[in-house]
Amino acid sequence: MTNDAEHVASDPNWWRQAAVYQIYPRSFADADGNGIGDLVGVTSRVPYLAELGIDAVWLSPFYPSALADGGYDVDDYRDVDPKIGTLDEFDEMVEALHGAGIKVIVDIVPNHSSDRHEWFRAAVAAGKGSPERERYLFRDGRGANGELPPNDWTSIFGGGAWERVTEPDGTPGQWYFHLFAKEQPDLNWEHPEVHADFLRTLRFWSDRGVDGFRVDVAHGLKKDLDAAHDDLTTIHRAELFSDGSHPLWDRDDVHDVYAEWRRVFDEYDPPRTAVAEAWVHADRRARYASPEGLGQAFNFDLLQAGFDADSFREVIAKNLAEAAATGASSTWVFSNHDVVRHATRYGLTEESGAAGGTPVGADGKAWLLAGGDPEYVDDALGLRRARAATLLMLALPGSAYLYQGEELGLPEVGEIADRDRQDPAFFRNTGVEIGRDGCRVPLPWTAAGTSFGFGPDGGAAPHLPQPAWFAEYAAEAETGAPGSTLEFYRAALRLRHELQDAETLDWLEASDPAVLAFARPGGWRSVTNFGDDAVPLPGGEVLVASGPLPGDGTLPGATTVWVR
Ligand code: GLC
Repeated sequence: MTNDAEHVASDPNWWRQAAVYQIYPRSFADADGNGIGDLVGVTSRVPYLAELGIDAVWLSPFYPSALADGGYDVDDYRDVDPKIGTLDEFDEMVEALHGAGIKVIVDIVPNHSSDRHEWFRAAVAAGKGSPERERYLFRDGRGANGELPPNDWTSIFGGGAWERVTEPDGTPGQWYFHLFAKEQPDLNWEHPEVHADFLRTLRFWSDRGVDGFRVDVAHGLKKDLDAAHDDLTTIHRAELFSDGSHPLWDRDDVHDVYAEWRRVFDEYDPPRTAVAEAWVHADRRARYASPEGLGQAFNFDLLQAGFDADSFREVIAKNLAEAAATGASSTWVFSNHDVVRHATRYGLTEESGAAGGTPVGADGKAWLLAGGDPEYVDDALGLRRARAATLLMLALPGSAYLYQGEELGLPEVGEIADRDRQDPAFFRNTGVEIGRDGCRVPLPWTAAGTSFGFGPDGGAAPHLPQPAWFAEYAAEAETGAPGSTLEFYRAALRLRHELQDAETLDWLEASDPAVLAFARPGGWRSVTNFGDDAVPLPGGEVLVASGPLPGDGTLPGATTVWVR
């Protein structure tokens, strides 16, 4: 370990301004050539990650899974999917990442297990009234023979939230609750064994050197399934409830769980960190980020904001104030495995269907619902804005979360045939929503070769097909190429490392309403022109720019610069 790496390893505050790179393991790098990315693949790319200049990786689930929901249906929380690797390979990966000074965050999925988890199999086999069923949320159905679900609540992926099981004697039986796919039965967080088992899992990975956890659906877990809630339009709109009264989401006692987890995190030196995925009312997010709880929570506000100076300023100011109030640091994110890549969102045109109501391209959902037609995307504009937004984000105090492939400028893949799709959101909502596969297509590493270097030449086809145009986004093609998105990310991350200081920001008076400018301690400034027309370039030395500068003293539209 270098001195620098040793210092980082022992710093309890390493996460506060970290650049965290999300790896979706099955689509990152396929070392054994079976078409599915693996842990050895991750290890083989440690030099690439080090060169990129990130501080940590967050790995989406790599646990044994039937992949009913891309691995968020976990069969065993304390093992590695054999298609992806082994526990020994996990240890080797952690060692290699740590050796390069990169921290490791893993995804924990506490709201639900998979229906292949040993507990769930036991629950079905043991029958009604058994202690095994108590670990999940089983209820009798309504109707003369229990043939109707206990209520009409829907699941996030479409269809009802209840699934009926066949009892051990072969008769149709009870129903179990699932917020997501039916292969993801919700755990009963009133049960002490559920609590104990997750503490064991947190220790299991912490003991193996994991530095932190990303907590999936952190605002689920606690539920009152017997409460009345007849309004199906708000059944998954936790963000509309500011008082903890929703029966399914963001209930006050969920924080008892995280207080318990915090005690485990603090058993370690440095303490393990956590970040909550909690889509809740803005006033309640801070609870998840409290130092007695998970410590940090994602804010998806920038991701959902339109590309304009006022929206960005409002979101940033609000979140910095919120973080300051709890002692957390803020988080920023534009892309992840659940949303349309930001290079595409920012290029959506009026014709895309994304315009109605939401700002064009704000979250891309409308475009997905309309079928995700690539015809409706202005790729060049999208990438230009995405790079400007990213450079602004990297100048903000707090942690920046990046999603694999965004450093290549990858757009969303719109053209996936129905037969190749995997996302349960597509299957449960047939013809309505195309789902999230378009941001999960395996990465292009080389411009040539079967699977563009994702797997070895001649290996199995990647589990999601890559379009021919992936060649131009290959990491190899962008390496060393002046102006490439990869070299831009590298330069920006390197500078961020050098420049980041105290977690404060001062807004600067802007020359134009389309411009957003702020200064950070140490005398550097970030200036973004959100408009279409050029504005005067701010004075000082330009450290990095998100796009080409014409050299005539102007800052073009959709461009960010850092100056000193
Ligand atoms: C989270 C994950 C998403 C998954 C869901 C259910 O939102 O990010 O990918 O489908 O939880 O686990």
